[in-house]
Amino acid sequence: MLSVEARSLSKSYGNVPAVDSIDLSVGPGKIFGFLGPNGAGKTTTIKLLTTLIPPTSGRVSILGIDASRDPLGIRKKIGVVLQQPSYEPNLTVERSLEKYGMMWDVDSRTRRERTEELLAAFDLEDIRKKKNDDISIGQRRRVQVAREFMHDMDLLFLDEPTVGLDPSARRGLLDYIRGKVRDGLTIFFTTHILEEAEYLCDEIAIINRGRIIAVDTPDELKNKFGREKTIKIRLGGTHDISSMLEGLASYDISHDEGTVITIHSADSERALARILQVLSSNNIGVEDLSVVPTSLEEIFLKVVKDSNSNGENHGASNNQAGK
Ligand SMILES: Nc1ncnc2c1ncn2[C@@H]1O[C@H](COP(=O)(O)OP(=O)(O)OP(=O)(O)O)[C@@H](O)[C@H]1O
Ligand SMILES: [Mg+2]
Repeated sequence: MLSVEARSLSKSYGNVPAVDSIDLSVGPGKIFGFLGPNGAGKTTTIKLLTTLIPPTSGRVSILGIDASRDPLGIRKKIGVVLQQPSYEPNLTVERSLEKYGMMWDVDSRTRRERTEELLAAFDLEDIRKKKNDDISIGQRRRVQVAREFMHDMDLLFLDEPTVGLDPSARRGLLDYIRGKVRDGLTIFFTTHILEEAEYLCDEIAIINRGRIIAVDTPDELKNKFGREKTIKIRLGGTHDISSMLEGLASYDISHDEGTVITIHSADSERALARILQVLSSNNIGVEDLSVVPTSLEEIFLKVVKDSNSNGENHGASNNQAGK
């Protein structure tokens, strides 16, 4: 049974489609990353999947429960941390956790245990007696995320949980999430920090203008879209290289006045071999050679740019998340 299943899911505001016929599948125990530029439809998708808003068309099933039949049944089994800040100004940090546990009917002993565990895990112990109004924005975000772990759940949706968190708080949260996933939790989360997605996610979907334009494991995304590498060759001394490279015009090769040659190509290995041949037959030594592998960030930029230039003709819209 899939934890998240969406089929031809759409949501329009007026005539404007915010989410446009997407399919998603997330298996149990997985961490699923949902990426995309501002306004792409990530938050709208999370609101649809968590039954906070109804779809214009399409089907949602969460943990095997049909969202149109039993939205409350779904809400009892999931956690949601929305992008929007949410806190009670006059409650202290520890009371915020405690009260959230009460809302979820967690028994008092478990509440006490979890409050202590979360205060420690989210580095909130020093400010436990402070009011939400009197703590920093990043601290408030930590409280908002931490309190969601007060209750039992099978699936947790997190909409940009790490925004405003400093690097160590961010890493702390990611590792805490990993621990919970080892214990059986499934995570659906959005982020703009691509290293974060790569660090955490089993699978990543990229959404643009309401449509899913790529979905795969981080490694497979790199294989598929990241074959282009940049190779820089620094020569010993200055040479007239333009004439030497004439025969290699079919490769994407550029150079400066005569010291650095840059190859930017999906076929960079072959181009490199050819250049090295030419250099050695001209008795030119290589001083330095570097290969810059493609990052998830470059893939993201490329995939989104390609999908924008495809205009209305969204090529990959039939892609399905999941296996
Ligand atoms: N309540 C609303 N009424 C009208 N339009 C909306 C509403 N909520 C969102 N939209 C529009 O729907 C589109 C998708 O918005 P959404 O909030 O899902 O984007 P997002 O991917 O979460 O962006 P961000 O990265 O900025 O959080 C945007 O064009 C937005 O302007
Ligand atoms: Mg959003």
